[in-house]
Amino acid sequence: MANVQIIVGSVLGASEYVADALAEKLRECQHEVDIHLEPDANEIARHDHWIICSSTHGAGDFPDNIQRFATQLNQLKLDPLPFCVIALGDSSYDTFCEAGNKLHQLMLKSGAKPQTDVFEIDVLQHPIPEDVAVEWLAQHHPLMVDKNP
Ligand SMILES: Cc1cc2nc3c(=O)[nH]c(=O)nc-3n(C[C@H](O)[C@H](O)[C@H](O)COP(=O)(O)O)c2cc1C
Repeated sequence: MANVQIIVGSVLGASEYVADALAEKLRECQHEVDIHLEPDANEIARHDHWIICSSTHGAGDFPDNIQRFATQLNQLKLDPLPFCVIALGDSSYDTFCEAGNKLHQLMLKSGAKPQTDVFEIDVLQHPIPEDVAVEWLAQHHPLMVDKNP
């Protein structure tokens, strides 16, 4: 059993639905999960797994609710915290999933250890992104892969 912190960046709620679905799946596998809708990096436990789940808005911008968290990451040392990023976006934008990819880079810069590549979900192809996110989690996240031999 592990503790998982899910950090959400969302404007319209889609990433929040994804976070809820991931939490449900993780809890089924006996993991403890907290969801952060107004994430403050200084308040989130650092010995746990972090899953960052964020959309992109504006032209490649962070959702407002995760802007502070992104700024905080610039000043943090998170080695050896395990993390992964699930990025929601719309492939009709040139800046497809840019916020999620920037968050991945900021986490790398802080010394945190990626458990997977960024998982980009194109909402044009996947109108119910939580379904594909849960499927991906079960197949790729080390906490889940171990449970699905
Ligand atoms: C005003 C606006 C700007 C957007 N800009 C981008 C963008 O630059 N890149 C991208 O990949 N998706 C962009 N999107 C698509 C959103 O990321 C996508 O709809 C996502 O599912 C929203 O998730 P949320 O409900 O968690 O905010 C934009 C959507 C809107 C409404």
